[in-house]
Amino acid sequence: MNRATTTRPLPILTYTLSLALAVVAGPGSIALAGGHTGGSPKTESIQLDASLRSDARGTVLITGANRGIGLDLARNYARRGWTVIATARKPAKADELNALVRDNPRVKIERLDLLDHEQIDALAAKYADTPIDVLLNNAAILGEPNDQNFGTFDYELMERVFAVNVIGPMKMAEAFADSVERSTMKKIVAITSSQGSITSVRSPAIVFYNISKAALNMGMRSNSKALKKRGITVAIISPGAVDTDMMNLALDRAGVQFKLMTPQDSAEAVINIIDQYGLELTGTFLSHRGTVIPW
Ligand SMILES: NC(=O)c1ccc[n+]([C@@H]2O[C@H](COP(=O)([O-])OP(=O)(O)OC[C@H]3O[C@@H](n4cnc5c(N)ncnc54)[C@H](OP(=O)(O)O)[C@@H]3O)[C@@H](O)[C@H]2O)c1
Repeated sequence: MNRATTTRPLPILTYTLSLALAVVAGPGSIALAGGHTGGSPKTESIQLDASLRSDARGTVLITGANRGIGLDLARNYARRGWTVIATARKPAKADELNALVRDNPRVKIERLDLLDHEQIDALAAKYADTPIDVLLNNAAILGEPNDQNFGTFDYELMERVFAVNVIGPMKMAEAFADSVERSTMKKIVAITSSQGSITSVRSPAIVFYNISKAALNMGMRSNSKALKKRGITVAIISPGAVDTDMMNLALDRAGVQFKLMTPQDSAEAVINIIDQYGLELTGTFLSHRGTVIPW
């Protein structure tokens, strides 16, 4: 589903996706003003070039690759000549991914539900001898926004959002760390969200999702400390405000619309940032524009 338009001004009271808008508005709107980032080197000076392409090729494993940003990450990596292990919960129904496989023999589809840790372990065992250059933790859920309002929190949903968005990528990182360490590039990437920035939060909407992304950031930053000595870079990247089912559900419930990036443009920028994201930046929270987002 693609429907990106600007149809009316944002009502202030339903201005729930302010951070995503800040990212759309440009790097200046998320520039650090001496905020606490804890990054190293000096985070204020970090500016990667989101348009800079690399010729590097390797093997990438992408979760949630059947639709949205994940599908375009898979398509983009395939065009660049990478070997792509694209995971989906229901491969038989992943029509666009199956079409990609037909045109690209280097793309493989694997069944994977992040809620199923035995399945994660089995997949990691299957690829134990395969060096994985980039483990790309993309899959996540938003959860029904109307069930995330203070006073009527749906705690089962809160647990599910946490299980998919936080525990899933943490389990993936542990399960695949050896395969990543065996590779040339050695990168574990978490697709996070600027909604996980505690400093910048302005609205109580989609609170479970926001909590999950803040927790994911902390989990991945902690992993970056644990994995640095093994030469593994942990990248924490927000993909921008992108025209996908997830974003459109959030906007529908908030009653707002604004111009969104295409998944193709987001994937291109995110991959270019991943290419430039080295061990010296490990554990830094970056936007798809290559600028630091405050924690
Ligand atoms: N879109 C945006 O503007 C935006 C902004 C900031 C951050 N992000 C982040 O970008 C990433 C991709 O989001 P998106 O917008 O592309 O979302 P999306 O269109 O809703 O796609 C989500 C993907 O995650 C998969 N998934 C959901 N639950 C899963 C589970 N239990 N196990 C494995 N896979 C599961 C989905 O598979 P099914 O088809 O089987 O459900 C789907 O492939 C997410 O991490 C999201 O938080 C997006």
